[in-house]
Amino acid sequence: MARRRALHDTPFIAPALAAELQARILSWYAVNGRDLPWRRTTDPYAVLVSEVMLQQTQVPRVIPKFTAFLAAYPRLDDLAEAPLHDVLRLWKGLGYNNRARRLRDCAAAAVAATGHPAELPRSAEGLRGLPGVGPYTARAVLAFAHNDDVAAVDANVRRVLTHELGLAIDLGTRALQMVAEAVLPRGRSRDWHNALMDYGALLLTARATGIAPRTRQGAFEGSRRWYRSRLLQALLERGPQRLDQIAVELDVTPGVAAELVDLLARDGLVRRDGDHVQVA
Ligand code: ADE
Repeated sequence: MARRRALHDTPFIAPALAAELQARILSWYAVNGRDLPWRRTTDPYAVLVSEVMLQQTQVPRVIPKFTAFLAAYPRLDDLAEAPLHDVLRLWKGLGYNNRARRLRDCAAAAVAATGHPAELPRSAEGLRGLPGVGPYTARAVLAFAHNDDVAAVDANVRRVLTHELGLAIDLGTRALQMVAEAVLPRGRSRDWHNALMDYGALLLTARATGIAPRTRQGAFEGSRRWYRSRLLQALLERGPQRLDQIAVELDVTPGVAAELVDLLARDGLVRRDGDHVQVA
């Protein structure tokens, strides 16, 4: 029953419409495409780093961080052995520090699975078994690194397809995925995804289309995420601290400081020994 409804709700994309969309977007991309550092490589590890960074951070902010990260850790094997402290220092400015720990854990998992030199899994299922890798990121690695005929739908891609094909704004994830697969030009997955990203980022912005992302980041300053970030940066810059020092530094009560430390500890980012707190 559920299956019938899903099929019924999936818009039919005529092959001629798909071909017209492909031609229009790929020819626009040939003239307007951006030269981004992660487009100069097909190394799956470098692509994974870029995709994790781009999950919640804008392209201009990611560019220098991506370059510095790859210079410090050129291969999975280098990252697998890196102390979390060093990885988090390099991550500064990107936010959402959990991503840095998960990326390091991905590298460690790859080494555990394949030994040296470490390799990432070659399938979407294998990639999804890694820490912090969801369906979009797994498919993006396959498309950008291997040019596989898989469709990766992020906020940009969703906005472009919704606008260009006149899809319902609340079309479900599964139906949208089927549409994305229907319009994918076989054998040109890498170019196609780069083109969709640029078309969405430069031409069909959320403002231009009125199509808002499904999830929005809340206000940062004063939020729990902001306090967590400040606490972690203080530990990275000044080394281990006592809870009472942390409370003064963040201008919060000792109870709140302890709560923030517990949250970071639960995410594996800091370690607490009695009153002493340090980066894990
Ligand atoms: N956002 C997510 N992946 C991207 C990519 N490869 N290029 C530009 N923006 C992106």
